[in-house]
Amino acid sequence: MITDSLDLDDLIARWNPSPSDLSINAVGVNHYYGEGETRKQVLFGNRLQVRRGEIVIMTGPSGSGKTTLLTLIGTLRKVQEGSLKVLGEELLGAAPTTVAQLRKQIGFIFQAHNLFESLTAYQNVSMATELLGIPPVEAKPRIVETLTRLGLGQRIHYKPRSLSGGQKQRVAVARGIIHRPQLILADEPTAALDAESGREVVTIFQEMARNDGCTIVIVTHDNRILDVADRIVSMVDGHIRTNVLIERNAIMCRILNEFDIFRSLTPQAISQVADKLSLRKYLAGEEIIRQGEMGDEFFVIGAGEVDIEIDGIRVNTLGKGAFFGEVSLIKHQPRNATVRAKSNVTCFILSKDDFQSVMDNSQTFEQELRNAIFARQ
Ligand SMILES: Nc1ncnc2c1ncn2[C@@H]1O[C@H](COP(=O)(O)OP(=O)(O)O)[C@@H](O)[C@H]1O
Ligand SMILES: [Mg+2]
Repeated sequence: MITDSLDLDDLIARWNPSPSDLSINAVGVNHYYGEGETRKQVLFGNRLQVRRGEIVIMTGPSGSGKTTLLTLIGTLRKVQEGSLKVLGEELLGAAPTTVAQLRKQIGFIFQAHNLFESLTAYQNVSMATELLGIPPVEAKPRIVETLTRLGLGQRIHYKPRSLSGGQKQRVAVARGIIHRPQLILADEPTAALDAESGREVVTIFQEMARNDGCTIVIVTHDNRILDVADRIVSMVDGHIRTNVLIERNAIMCRILNEFDIFRSLTPQAISQVADKLSLRKYLAGEEIIRQGEMGDEFFVIGAGEVDIEIDGIRVNTLGKGAFFGEVSLIKHQPRNATVRAKSNVTCFILSKDDFQSVMDNSQTFEQELRNAIFARQ
């Protein structure tokens, strides 16, 4: 069984990063354009947590707010509402000196490549190193190496007008990564590139993520590069609609498939549940739910055992694969029993709202749940 070979404690640690592991920590971020009558909200309560070294691919229709969110993260726009921490610094109300310091750690690659027409590829990139105060002796080999790496070795001294669209975009990529930033924000970086150059760019991103712990957010519609994503986020009408950590989702789906309660779900529904479940650990003796309290979570035991107590008397013991907490959610009644960890216990947990949405979207899940409750009594 997968859950016997997987270390659930290890997964808990990996999936619940401490705030200091996060490169981006956005909570309740709203954004508005315009003033007075024409003021229009374009971002709504966005929450996004991205770990150091993660590659995030952000998709969504045009006008859904991707660029706005990216420019907020990149300090190119002022945060108006909510909390947005980037590389540990709070951007809401941040001092200009903080913002200036932070910007040096960020690499931007934007759609419009806005290169200077009068400067060569080399000079366009070296402008960036000069602005950041990197000494020319250090900058020079790095610029040559990076441009060469991006397939521009023969065109280092060409001006933009002598470069194709794809080549210009690669100069823009070189300029965005030349200072080895801790965070790269790229808006459609591969759109103008053929498959091979596009692959070269994302390979460089991957190396920067793996070797230097660089965090990378890529806005793209280019499904040729989806495979590099650790996380895929999609935006619709200013809301983050889905936010899937790929590895976590895959592991969770494999685990869920082992549990009778989830086995009846379609693969799509499993993936949806996998996304919403959290893993939590309880120590032996710890109370997980208390009789008489209103419940707001549903539990499936991943490892360990729990005792069920009614009015202080132990009535049952449940082990791996069993679930509890559903009655009070379904009937909107207080908990009918206390559940206490008998040994150390790891539980998969669905919040009340997520539990409800799974029930609403899957009649088989609800039926399965009812059957199981029926069989238990
Ligand atoms: N500078 C601006 N002033 C006013 N409205 C803007 C501005 N930039 C973007 N918008 C509006 O905000 C919404 C989100 O835009 P944007 O962040 O560019 O979306 P995306 O990058 O997903 O296409 C759109 O409705 C767009 O028209
Ligand atoms: Mg955009």
